Amino acid sequence: MTTDIDVTADRRQRSADTELRRRAKAVVPNGMYGHENMNAFPAIPQFIARSRGARLWDVDGNEYVDLMCSWGPVILGHGDPVVDAAAEEQRRQGDCLNGPAPVMVELAETFVETVADADWAMFAKNGTDATTMCCTIARAQTGRTMILVAEGAYHGAAPWCTPFPAGVTAADRANLLQYQFNDVASIRAAVGDRAGDVAAIIVSPFRHDAGYDQEFVDPTFARDVRAYCDEIGAALILDDVRAGFRLHHGGSWEPLGVPVDLTPWSKAIANGYPLAAVTGTDRYRDAAGGIFVTGSFWMGAVDMAAGLATLTELARRDSVSRMRDLGQHLRTGIVASAERWGFDVHYTGPAQMPNLLFGNDSDYELSIAFSAEAQARGVYVHPKHNWFVSAAMTDGDLDMALTGLDGAFAALRARYPRS
Ligand SMILES: Cc1ncc(COP(=O)(O)O)c(C=O)c1O
Repeated sequence: MTTDIDVTADRRQRSADTELRRRAKAVVPNGMYGHENMNAFPAIPQFIARSRGARLWDVDGNEYVDLMCSWGPVILGHGDPVVDAAAEEQRRQGDCLNGPAPVMVELAETFVETVADADWAMFAKNGTDATTMCCTIARAQTGRTMILVAEGAYHGAAPWCTPFPAGVTAADRANLLQYQFNDVASIRAAVGDRAGDVAAIIVSPFRHDAGYDQEFVDPTFARDVRAYCDEIGAALILDDVRAGFRLHHGGSWEPLGVPVDLTPWSKAIANGYPLAAVTGTDRYRDAAGGIFVTGSFWMGAVDMAAGLATLTELARRDSVSRMRDLGQHLRTGIVASAERWGFDVHYTGPAQMPNLLFGNDSDYELSIAFSAEAQARGVYVHPKHNWFVSAAMTDGDLDMALTGLDGAFAALRARYPRS
């Protein structure tokens, strides 16, 4: 296998993107930061000009079928007319006001009606706000300090949970214990004799860590972790920020019949408008009401109107079923293409949030080259992070994705001939 990866496989016009990257480098640290920094994957355009439905156009005018959906938030499709009309109507009434608009109550009522484990709801802006609030509420309720997180799980970018060490102190992480996903024995082992100091255990709906094969939750693990939380008096927090409303219309563990205490939400709940939520059960209501959390823009009424319209439309259109069907077609087509071109692929995760990695590719050489070839053929995918399907995908979008990805496998085979 060659090690000479041609990350410039995108032979489309890229001059506007290159020029913006150059200008950004002068005025934005590193040109861009966080998960949207494409410096590590130069074949992925950094700057996007516009979007509609399941399509994107970069600043050079190249068109893509979008399988990243803004890393999750876009669920009904870019620029969904019903959501945008609801947001526009609220904008006419007012957005950033001295207090919440009536839509906050309607939105909270909708969460309580929709999510089995929700007796109340609170709102914020980012997933990190919501995961952090859940920890604070659990600590306020229990009077304890420790939080258990699964090794490698992402819960946001605050010092307590960012996966990168720069600027983080040992004190920021001092109250965390780590366990292995799907392994309740590892939870017991991590806790040891500190059960009386555990405020909460955070779980992801499934193991969606970037760069790894995704692992479904073992229902026995879900039941056991619930029972263990009850045994030691800790809160069970289900981090539904990434998967919420894509896997199930309600909490992602509802189909398992395993109740949770607190749930952070964000990403898909407002189809791209900035909104996060925390829901919880009555047991945590007073603690939630007793913590001081706020933000200058948290009560933005436009985003809440978009959230209300998004949850309503997701239910009305039965979008979860549509995304599951689309995802299954995608899976079937991609797995067949991989087989045709002789690649050992690991296509894991739920149909609506698939993850494509290659066997024997620990340095991600093949997946980086594959995603570069996909970008060059108008399919926006990421080499290490799970993809997202939106309900806006048409049969034409699906065809464009499958044709482009088949072409990407073919190009990869030309670069890496069968031995
Ligand atoms: C599971 C999970 N939790 C929390 C977060 C943090 O959300 P945000 O980036 O909106 O702060 C993310 C973001 O990707 C996530 O995937």
